[in-house]
Amino acid sequence: MALRQIRVYGDPVLNKVCKEVKEVTPRIKQLIEDMFDTMYDANGVGLAAPQVGILKRICVVDVTYEDPIAMINPKVLETSGEQTGQEGCLSVPGKCGDVTRPNYVKVRYYDTDMKEQIIEGTELLARCILHEIDHLDGKMYTEKVIGELRDVVADESADEGK
Ligand code: NI
Repeated sequence: MALRQIRVYGDPVLNKVCKEVKEVTPRIKQLIEDMFDTMYDANGVGLAAPQVGILKRICVVDVTYEDPIAMINPKVLETSGEQTGQEGCLSVPGKCGDVTRPNYVKVRYYDTDMKEQIIEGTELLARCILHEIDHLDGKMYTEKVIGELRDVVADESADEGK
C-alpha cells in the first residue's frame, strides 16, 4: 500500500486543466492503485489525480466502499434532474458545504485496459463523479457552494470526503 500526499486548497496544481491519458503505462496503473489506497486511507469516496499532484485525467470513486471504479479520460455525456446536498473534498479538510448538481449523470470513460466503458449514476454516485470530473478541469466544489463553507461535524466526516 502506497499513500500519496493529498494537495490542499491553495495549491496551484488544483486549478490546472489535466491532460488526457494516451496510454496506460505501469506508472499509471501504480498511480491508480495509490489513488485508491490514499482515498480509502482518508475515508474519502472519490479522488482525482490532481489532488495527488498529477495533472492527468484520471479519477477514482467508490461511494459504497465495495465498488471501486477507476475512470480514465471521463467525459459527461448526459445529465438530468437536480439535487442539492452536502459535499466535501479531501483537498479542503474539515470543511463542507451545500452544492446543487444534476441528480443523474451518464459518463463515458476508459478502464485500465483502455476499454471504453459507460457508467450511469444517480444521487451520491452522480454527485461524486461530477465532483471528480470538475477536479480534472481545475474546478473545486468551493466555487459552487451555496452560502458559506461549514466545519465538518466529527461523525459526519467519514462519508463526505471527495
Ligand atoms: Ni474533491
